Amino acid sequence: MVWSEKSRVKTYWESDSWLSQLSCQRAWVEIDHSALRHNVQAIKAILQPKTQLMAVIKADAYGHGAVNVAPTLLEAGCTSVAVATVGEGIELRKGGVNAPILILGATPTPAEVRAIALWGLEPTLSSPEQALLYNRVLQELGVELGVHLKLDTGMSRLGVHWSEATSFASLVKNLPSLKILSIYSHLATADDPNPEMMKLQQQRYQQAIAQLKSQGLTPPCLHLANSAATLSDRSLHYDLVRVGLALYGLYPAPHLRRVLSLHPVLEVKARITQVKTIPKGTGVSYGHHFSSDRPLKIAVVGIGYADGVPRNLSNKLQVLLRGQLVPQIGAITMDQLMLDVSKIPDLQPGEVVTLLGREGNISLTADDWANTLGTISWEILCGFKHRLPRINR
Ligand SMILES: Cc1ncc(COP(=O)(O)O)c(C=O)c1O
Repeated sequence: MVWSEKSRVKTYWESDSWLSQLSCQRAWVEIDHSALRHNVQAIKAILQPKTQLMAVIKADAYGHGAVNVAPTLLEAGCTSVAVATVGEGIELRKGGVNAPILILGATPTPAEVRAIALWGLEPTLSSPEQALLYNRVLQELGVELGVHLKLDTGMSRLGVHWSEATSFASLVKNLPSLKILSIYSHLATADDPNPEMMKLQQQRYQQAIAQLKSQGLTPPCLHLANSAATLSDRSLHYDLVRVGLALYGLYPAPHLRRVLSLHPVLEVKARITQVKTIPKGTGVSYGHHFSSDRPLKIAVVGIGYADGVPRNLSNKLQVLLRGQLVPQIGAITMDQLMLDVSKIPDLQPGEVVTLLGREGNISLTADDWANTLGTISWEILCGFKHRLPRINR
């Protein structure tokens, strides 16, 4: 194909409506922005007026598309966002997000300090050494930077041990290029119905903050809660809550369902690409781990594990087709999977199946997949990466 023909195709594609673009797709993710707005409002309704809602949109907003969902979250009432890496923060700035962006992860190199300063991001400092490095690099640049101090109160991940909070904060306070924006910690067991460990972490956090205050170091902002803590105990809310999963309409634990009503934001759909009949005794897909015990009508669907459908769901997955549950058969492959559609009459290639989402009164959720696999819904959502186009509803 010569270039001029190629560019004509490109122009056609770009000017086309989303609906006809959709008809060219083999698989996609649908993002329901009204569900997103509902979830922000439902969460804000359980917060004190003084408590701000930070949207955790790391890992491309748990598979929902960070640049795509950030404006809706901010318009609906979130006042800041959090990501894990400098790259994720830069992507948001390039995508037009002007709100404060907290980087939750480690950013220990001089190159990261420069990028953070350049793009107006807010790093987490987790050690005195990191604070000293930041101050040195920022002095070379001649700029001052707001930073968030992280305490380890029991997660045993990033952070200064809670008993060293005062010495850490006074070191940072005396470094001329750094300004403390908040002091925070992260809970390890907030989704456990037994609150004992969470309460112990809260006690340690409170003790550290009380000590800071007694030394005249009053932090401007305190935060501790993720989704589970936000839903389970108001005393954990402080000045700000860092909420991820609940914004996307999923519950961190079954016992938290009664607290508020959340709406799932993401649906995953794919198109049937071929329908055929196989005789009894025919193996299906790699390894022939499924073999037909009678003649079967099967459908090939254009989605696979490279799109975020875990291969370990092979022979255990069910999808929705014309409002009915249909079993998936054989190994899920990189880009395709097969269904037993023997009970569906007159099926044609092009029909759409729902892998996650609702049809009529049946819904399939990331929790269903997570329960089958013995993992958590966070991991399922993060599996939907850029390969699937995101269609906004
Ligand atoms: C430090 C921190 N805060 C908040 C969150 C949000 O957690 P959740 O998605 O459970 O609300 C995370 C997510 O992993 C996190 O690492």
